[in-house]
Amino acid sequence: MTSIQASRGTKDILSPEVYYWQKLEAIARQVLHQASYVEVRTPIFEATELYTRGIGEATDIVGKEMYSFLDRGDRSLTLRPEGTAGVVRAAIEHSLLQGVQRLWYLGAMFRYERPQAGRQRQFHQLGVEVLGSDDPRIDAEVISLAINFLEQVGISGLVVQLNSVGSGSDRQVYRQALVDYFTPFAADLDPDSRDRLERNPLRILDSKDPHTQAIAAHAPQILNYLSQESRQHFEQVQQLLSDLNIPFALNPRLVRGLDYYTRTAFEIQSSLLGSQSAVCGGGRYDRLVTELGGNHTPAVGWAIGLERLVILLAQLAAPPLPRLDFYLVSRGALAERQALKIAAQVRQLGFRVELDVSGAKFDKQLKRADAKGAIAALIVGDAEAELHQIQIKWLKSGEQQTIAQTELDSLTLD
Ligand code: HAM
Repeated sequence: MTSIQASRGTKDILSPEVYYWQKLEAIARQVLHQASYVEVRTPIFEATELYTRGIGEATDIVGKEMYSFLDRGDRSLTLRPEGTAGVVRAAIEHSLLQGVQRLWYLGAMFRYERPQAGRQRQFHQLGVEVLGSDDPRIDAEVISLAINFLEQVGISGLVVQLNSVGSGSDRQVYRQALVDYFTPFAADLDPDSRDRLERNPLRILDSKDPHTQAIAAHAPQILNYLSQESRQHFEQVQQLLSDLNIPFALNPRLVRGLDYYTRTAFEIQSSLLGSQSAVCGGGRYDRLVTELGGNHTPAVGWAIGLERLVILLAQLAAPPLPRLDFYLVSRGALAERQALKIAAQVRQLGFRVELDVSGAKFDKQLKRADAKGAIAALIVGDAEAELHQIQIKWLKSGEQQTIAQTELDSLTLD
């Protein structure tokens, strides 16, 4: 029979790669915990309407990339393509809209995209969302947390691409200016951009087509369409980032692929990555909560794609393999029974212990202890079992000692 393989765009994460993941997760927990962010875990699937309303019908994500299906009760559900909409839904549903809520999440997201290095159909995001403040200090705080996390992971060459996409009303005026500008060039635009002219003209600025790019180079710039308030907010964010010594570059053509953004929009890129250089994307979304049925609540957040970080980490450092403290070698019926118990006891002391259950000869088991990189082998044969003893063999020096099983509690690695 032919075997079944993982679906296109999905990946098994195995050892040693899984240790990079554990490292990233541990750093994320630490950094976000210290900033007093609280983890939320929302469902992997949600009502499709959450995303059509939240992310926007005219976006690539909603238009082409969602994994949507009818369940057996004929409800239209969608595997989450991102985390923000679900977090906002949960915050409204559980009345988390008083004061400032600082939240984070980590989990699998799903987009039907063409897989390539660093781009998958099931991928993982670490994200933060801060609900309930339009203070520019929060914009700066979330950006600085992303930088802090990436630096602790060991990623260098980081630059924040920064833009303001204006408030809802700024954008309406700007949108019209873009339509007016691009319409005479309609025939020269690439087909995707022509398609976007009516539905989502901002995204034309993001086109990768060189001809469209040349036309877009002279398009009106959003910064000239910002209200006094939006401009002031944007200037304050820049000032605060400078205070924090965070390198940023103004990029008036940065338009994100989701419709909910207002004012601050940013991406963080690493010069270490190739075509998929964005490791982090985010921004403000002051209108999303009302769009999804909650009270007016300004908010800002970001998400970091972890697959890309793992690719980077693997280029930078050997996988952080965990150390094996003891390898438990036993042979003979009584010894094998005792060994199971001894392994449990040694784990209780906080050590990492692996039990050999091969029943092979001692030298074979000891070879395996070496191959596994254990610090010491604990050896129980019939003779030791009878006397309730254990032999400890320190694998580096080859030194051996015998202890009573009752002395296990004082076992140390020194
Ligand atoms: P996004 O830019 O769509 O934003 O995704 C954020 C990051 O997720 C990207 O920069 C990239 O690193 C990673 N990513 C996206 N798609 C893929 C993929 N197919 N494979 C691997 N990695 C991928 C959002 O999702 C927003 N929810 C971010 C946000 C939070 N804005 C405000 N709060």
